[in-house]
Amino acid sequence: MTLRFTDACVTDIDSIAALDGAAFEFPWSRDDFEGSMKVGHQFLLLKDDDRLLGFAVYMQIFEQSELLTIAVLPSEQGHGYGKLLLNEVAARLAANGAESLFLEVRVSNERARALYAGAGFKEISIRKGYYPSRDGREDAIVMQKVLSQ
Ligand SMILES: CC(C)(COP(=O)(O)OP(=O)(O)OC[C@H]1O[C@@H](n2cnc3c(N)ncnc32)[C@H](O)[C@@H]1OP(=O)(O)O)[C@@H](O)C(=O)NCCC(=O)NCCS
Repeated sequence: MTLRFTDACVTDIDSIAALDGAAFEFPWSRDDFEGSMKVGHQFLLLKDDDRLLGFAVYMQIFEQSELLTIAVLPSEQGHGYGKLLLNEVAARLAANGAESLFLEVRVSNERARALYAGAGFKEISIRKGYYPSRDGREDAIVMQKVLSQ
C-alpha cells in the first residue's frame, strides 16, 4: 500500500463525485465539483497508488480559510484517513499564512464532529436549517480551529 497526497485535475472529477455520492446522503453533483475547481478552490486527494481513498475541498481568503467538504470511501472509513486529510489541509493552510479554519457540520453527523473535535476545532455558532434533510431541514454547527504557523 502506497499512500500519497495529490492535487486534483479535471480527470479526477468523476471519481471524486462517485466517492462523494457513496459517502453522503446529500452529495455534491459532478457540476458542483467542476464549478468548485473552476473558481479556484483547493482539492487535496488521498490515493493508494491510483485508487482514490478520500478527498478534501477547501478555500483560503488571506488569513481565513474554510473546509468546504471532506469524505473518505465508505469501505475505508475508520482507518485514520479522514484525520490524515484534515491534518494535511490544516498544515498546508497554516504554511500558506491562514490563521483560522472554519467549517460547517450537520448536528447529526457525530462521526465528523468527533473527528473535528479531536483535531482541535471548537463549536462557535449554529446555522438554523442550513442543510436539507429527510424531514425538512437540519441545523449546522459552525466550528473553528486556530491554526499555528
Ligand atoms: C467524517 C469522515 C471524513 C471521517 O473519516 P474517517 O477516515 O472515517 O475517520 P478517521 O478514521 O480518520 O477517524 C478520525 C476520528 O473520527 C472519529 N471517528 C471515526 N470513526 C468513528 C465512528 N465510527 N464513530 C464515532 N467517531 C468516529 C474519531 O474521533 C476518530 O478519531 P480517533 O481514531 O482518534 O478516535 C468519514 O467518516 C466520511 O467520509 N463520512 C461521510 C462524509 C462526511 O460526513 N464528511 C464530513 C462532512 S462535514
